[in-house]
Amino acid sequence: MALERTLTIVKPDAVAACHIGDIIKIFEANHFTLVAARLVRLTKKEAEGFYAVHRGKGFFESLTTFMSSGPALVMVLEGERVIARLRQAMGATNPDQADPGTIRKLYAQNIERNAVHGSDSPETAAFEIGYFFPGVELI
Ligand code: RTP
Ligand code: MG
Repeated sequence: MALERTLTIVKPDAVAACHIGDIIKIFEANHFTLVAARLVRLTKKEAEGFYAVHRGKGFFESLTTFMSSGPALVMVLEGERVIARLRQAMGATNPDQADPGTIRKLYAQNIERNAVHGSDSPETAAFEIGYFFPGVELI
């Protein structure tokens, strides 16, 4: 089976709540291999570019304000079917609907401040990895 790569972000709420280690522990338990990492403080414009697919939606302004409100840890993970497996480990967008044991059930505060991001398709992963690691030869 082919290896995939995906882009994940420990969002500002989870960084502020000291859950970076807890979340990376879940990645390691799932055997997701870390191949790149950067601690970033997004500008509003960078957050808007990253979530451009959601421009025009009711939550866009609030989401991009939140995502630029403090440090966030951006990582590239590698593994077999890692895109879908990360989404499973994250849980539903709304933590009220997330399965027990998922990152969002454990650490999300609400549907917006939901602890973690994960790419939702190979096309999205390619765009998002390039957005944060342009022209970088990953390990
Ligand atoms: P993400 O892109 O961050 O991994 O989350 P997702 O696929 O589960 O959800 P998506 O629909 O792509 O939404 C992106 C992020 O926007 C915020 N959101 N707020 N208030 C709302 O109704 C609402 N809906 C979405 C969340 O932070 C969500 O993760
Ligand atoms: Mg999404």
